[in-house]
Amino acid sequence: MKSYCIHQIGQLPQKVNKSIPTVKDDELLLKLSASSLNHRDIWITKGLYPGIKIDATMGADGCGQDENGQDYIINPGLEWGNNEAYQASNFRVLGVPDDGTFAEYIAINKKYVLQKPSHLSTLQAAALPLAGVTAFRALFKRANLQKGEKVLISGIGGGVALFAMQFAIAHGCEVLVTSGSSIKLEKAISLGAKAGYLYHDVEWTKNLLADFGGVDVIIDSAAGSGFQQLVKICNPGARIAFYGGSQGKIDGLNPQTLFWKQISLLGTTMGSDLDFKEMVSFVQQHQIIPIIHSVYALDELHQGFHYMETAQQFGKIVFEH
Ligand SMILES: NC(=O)c1ccc[n+]([C@@H]2O[C@H](COP(=O)([O-])OP(=O)(O)OC[C@H]3O[C@@H](n4cnc5c(N)ncnc54)[C@H](OP(=O)(O)O)[C@@H]3O)[C@@H](O)[C@H]2O)c1
Repeated sequence: MKSYCIHQIGQLPQKVNKSIPTVKDDELLLKLSASSLNHRDIWITKGLYPGIKIDATMGADGCGQDENGQDYIINPGLEWGNNEAYQASNFRVLGVPDDGTFAEYIAINKKYVLQKPSHLSTLQAAALPLAGVTAFRALFKRANLQKGEKVLISGIGGGVALFAMQFAIAHGCEVLVTSGSSIKLEKAISLGAKAGYLYHDVEWTKNLLADFGGVDVIIDSAAGSGFQQLVKICNPGARIAFYGGSQGKIDGLNPQTLFWKQISLLGTTMGSDLDFKEMVSFVQQHQIIPIIHSVYALDELHQGFHYMETAQQFGKIVFEH
């Protein structure tokens, strides 16, 4: 079967012919119908991710069909363990070191599959898993988001960020967003965000405070020097959940502001099996449709990687197998 593997650090995944995996008793063989790209896949090709195994098939997200024609989505969080508070030391994300979804078939433990929500196409379902569970845990398990609260989602063009926006709106919250692109801000507003701010504009926090008076929850993946701007717009008791650090180390934080305003800084990563199940139910209950920026054939995988690297996307980049 066709599969795209990490062959060498600094190289995009290479097409390799592998045999169709043999399944163990507790596994299902799925013929993958679609997969999707996460920023993690870019970090892996650059060698900037732990646990890289050369020649493993890449790809964390996927949707596939079993021999009976049932469509499943795959939970990419392997071996979370029994503690809902944090993952076990052998937790891994599907797609390096374990063989992932950028292939024609996958053998996957039955405990990591759920039936595809019926309102989603296979392409939409493949866009959901990793980014969806990360957004769900950040909002509801870590930041304990309450109906009616004001939420800021930074960098709205990102896959996780967009799910966070959709989930918070569905939960009855007022959502504000930032982006490096005014076109992305307009798109977010057309999808229900109340307002958008360009994070490169030095006045953005001042403008947000004047317009909305502050926020209760912030979801961020950038960190870096811009993180101190996020603290400025926090209401007393605010929670900031962050799942990435694409802009580097957090600096310039004023401890007095943090403790006086009772602000919580919450690191968060993906989600447990329970988080995944609850996220899929939430998506089903609210009939949420993942936002797809572009669909490529699996053989056009490199185009998807190039597109994400230039950060032009608004939504997920999906591969049709
Ligand atoms: N811990 C976890 O479980 C977990 C899970 C998923 C992702 N992540 C990490 O989170 C990050 C995003 O992942 P993704 O898959 O959503 O990537 P993505 O789709 O490529 O999104 C990256 C987004 O970052 C935003 N961004 C860039 N510079 C920014 C800045 N200065 N301030 C605020 N936002 C900025 C951009 O938003 P605009 O285009 O709107 O400017 C861009 O769309 C990556 O570093 C990834 O490794 C971690």
